[in-house]
Amino acid sequence: MDFYTIVTVLLVILITCVMANYSKILLEKSKLPPGPTPLPIIGTLHLMNFGDIVKSLMELSKKYGDIFTIYEGTQPVIVLCSYKALKETFIDKAEEFSGRAYYASFHDFTKGEELAFSNGEKWKEMRRFALLTLGSFGVGKRSFEERIREEAGYLTEVLRKANGSPINPNYPILRSVSNVVCSLVFGSRFEYKDENFQKVVKCIQEIFRIMSTRWGVLYNVYPNVMKYIPGPHHTMMGNFGVMADFIKEKMENNMKTLDSNNPRDFIDCFLIKMEKEEKNEETFFNINTLVMNSLILFFAGTESISATLRFAFLHLMKYPNIAEKVYNEIDNVIGQRPPSYEDRFNMPYTEAFIYEVQRVGDVVPLALPHELIVDTDIRNYTFKKGTVFTPVLTGAHNDITQFDNPENFDPKNFLDGSGKLMKRESLMPFSIGKRICPGKSLANMEIFIFITTLLQNFTIKSPVAPEKISVAAVGSGLGHIPPSFEICLMPRTQSQE
Ligand code: HEM
Repeated sequence: MDFYTIVTVLLVILITCVMANYSKILLEKSKLPPGPTPLPIIGTLHLMNFGDIVKSLMELSKKYGDIFTIYEGTQPVIVLCSYKALKETFIDKAEEFSGRAYYASFHDFTKGEELAFSNGEKWKEMRRFALLTLGSFGVGKRSFEERIREEAGYLTEVLRKANGSPINPNYPILRSVSNVVCSLVFGSRFEYKDENFQKVVKCIQEIFRIMSTRWGVLYNVYPNVMKYIPGPHHTMMGNFGVMADFIKEKMENNMKTLDSNNPRDFIDCFLIKMEKEEKNEETFFNINTLVMNSLILFFAGTESISATLRFAFLHLMKYPNIAEKVYNEIDNVIGQRPPSYEDRFNMPYTEAFIYEVQRVGDVVPLALPHELIVDTDIRNYTFKKGTVFTPVLTGAHNDITQFDNPENFDPKNFLDGSGKLMKRESLMPFSIGKRICPGKSLANMEIFIFITTLLQNFTIKSPVAPEKISVAAVGSGLGHIPPSFEICLMPRTQSQE
């Protein structure tokens, strides 16, 4: 056979395989929820704006409903895009929906050797261990508040130095917030000027940013192709490497100074657990899972809270009338004493403001992909074990059956007619169900203490007119990232130094 005949035969075989696979996809599609017709090989990717994937999914849900099917290449993915759809699945069938689907940009580094991207017994044990350990250091309890207040105090003193001139608060907030989770994972905070610490928190923010651009989104859909295409997504693995090295250095220090009766941090607790499980050949507790779990907690507890706080300051500058109500409540309820998390019970407006920032800021809009662990019926469909589901939390946060004017920023969404706080199940920034964020209580406590401490100490002013302030997120993918901004913080109190 000559060269051209061989190429022709190969092409015919290839096209036949693609078309056979495509007919199978079309046949299976008829049993799945509605959605746009996929093309061979690329699926429905031609309909996605990878620069704003959340917007594309929200647009598709207008046409196909709150549960619909898209195709990432040849793989069907079921999109859940309303409060009702998320509740019917993640709450009403919580166990069935508790699996984690492959998420290339994390999996390629952690290989699922930690609590966020593992499944089955490994996930259950790691998650239980993390929750117990965080709880043992007082997370979610009064004893941990002091640590958060102390860090908010350090941040106040740094911001005070600007003396009211315009500053970009991004790095000061990022370092300060990260220090709270660092005190849990590493047992102590870091000086803001510590260069290694500065480097590692910048790496975290950079990973979060790239995962929220078209590069990160495409990497998650086509990891095998994107590995060969140059672009900023390649820096993610290097940045994870910087984080892992930072953690390994701390871990080696902990090993040398470990006192099994007095664990100082998450790493110590993990080392003690490893000792206890030494003889168990099936154990999930080893050096590698220690590093990867520490990495996930460090990562998850940094930019998510920092971005929420930045969204809060943007909205306070944009809506001075709302800011005034928050200030009044802080002055009346807390005055000049240090804020306590319990104060929130007497501060419905401030709490409603924070809820509204979480709803509109929507910092982790697609949560993380879930996977069915058994065949399951939802509405009139039977989904097979292994089916992948994308939760669109934005769909719940903008659900018109839940919020009157979801496109407007209005703390009244969480207040009843008499000004009392209304909790709403449709607010789910930490997702819902068995995979709900285990850092929820830590994050909520931090957000409240940081906001009240900073407003107690500063009058905030925008260097530009409020109507010129954009609060629209600049990225969409893993995260919704607030736009970069400057703020003037005029001291209201004397320095505590
Ligand atoms: C404002 C702050 C935060 C937000 C908005 C947030 C949001 C989320 C969301 C949406 C998920 C995905 C849940 C799902 O799969 O359905 C998640 C998972 C997770 N978060 Fe958070 N998070 C925040 C802070 C934290 C903190 C402070 C920590 C730890 C100290 C943390 C640790 C984790 C972990 C380990 C997971 C994976 C849980 C699992 O797969 O079982 N997060 N978070």
